[in-house]
Amino acid sequence: MDPLHNAMSCCLYPQERLREESILPFSAFLTDNFGRRHSYLRMSLTEKCNLRCQYCMPEDGVKLTPRSQLLSTSEVLTLARLFVQEGVEKIRLTGGEPLIRPDVLDIIAELRKLEGLKTIAVTTNGMNLARLLPKLKDAGLNLINISLDSLVPAKFEFIVRRKGFHKVIEGIDKAIEMGYNPVKVNCVVMRGLNEDELLDFVALTEKKPLEVRFIEYMPFDGNKWNFKKMVSYQEMLDHIRQQWPNLEKLQTGQTETAKTFKVPGFKGQVGFITSMSDHFCGSCNRLRITADGNLKVCLFGNSEVSLRDVLRSGASNEELLQIIGAAVGRKKKQHAGMFSISQMKNRPMILIGG
Ligand code: 5AD
Ligand code: SF4
Repeated sequence: MDPLHNAMSCCLYPQERLREESILPFSAFLTDNFGRRHSYLRMSLTEKCNLRCQYCMPEDGVKLTPRSQLLSTSEVLTLARLFVQEGVEKIRLTGGEPLIRPDVLDIIAELRKLEGLKTIAVTTNGMNLARLLPKLKDAGLNLINISLDSLVPAKFEFIVRRKGFHKVIEGIDKAIEMGYNPVKVNCVVMRGLNEDELLDFVALTEKKPLEVRFIEYMPFDGNKWNFKKMVSYQEMLDHIRQQWPNLEKLQTGQTETAKTFKVPGFKGQVGFITSMSDHFCGSCNRLRITADGNLKVCLFGNSEVSLRDVLRSGASNEELLQIIGAAVGRKKKQHAGMFSISQMKNRPMILIGG
């Protein structure tokens, strides 16, 4: 081992050092039958949201789970602790809108104390972001994804069925000002709605350190998906290349879901999340826990197991791990393909958490 690496590993905690030196194999409970190591956990903190995005929520809303059946602060933290002990290195807080949960700052501050957890991320609609950001940063938030599907205020408000465009922009600017780099902006591209704004979004990356991520529109319960409304990665790329032929592909990490590009000379970059046209199941390292405490091993799979019920039955960590391990062991090699997904019963996105 080289001296630098040796010196660095001395500073690590014993568990981490062993893992780093590959003496300790990655948790068997979090490794599936295809060798995928699940080191990234997405936890939904709430089913509620202050927006009503068309692609995420059915028009007439969703039936909310009674509060007593949602994970409490201490249950969220118990589960997070267990997953981090087993090797999870990144936790993303999702929703609904995670920043409307009153204890979000306490949760982040407690997560920050977990040895081995390298990244705490949040996916937010940005409505409360400018106000909360200083406290979120103090608590230990490292990474922010903000949803923004249109740069035209009236269109934004049509898509999210609420007002608030300027608050989101303010949130994005505040995140840049506070040094988050890149600030990730999620844009779900839908034909006939915002696909004409692709170039404007790319242009935004000229002066701002943003990573604009174009997301292929995915089918979930109640979101009226159809194949024609989906704009594929290839189509988006072709369109952008007409304006910027020298768009450059960047290298990404193995488990990164976005294919990233940069216009030479621009401060920021663009990414594409190609869940529909070119899935990345082979390198999937994600697990999800819904706000009501169900473990979901695949975004597009409807098999779920209630960790909340196991926790509330007074089970030991070992018993919880057995149940988690069995669910991970049942994870399929890949999702069923976009047409089957659109026929399948799943939760609406708002009840999964992205
Ligand atoms: N298709 C693609 N992405 C979606 N999201 C929510 N619903 C969908 C969908 N149907 C993603 C968006 C949003 C985040 C909260 O979840 O990226 O920004
Ligand atoms: Fe709320 Fe995000 Fe869903 Fe929009 S996409 S309704 S902001 S949870």
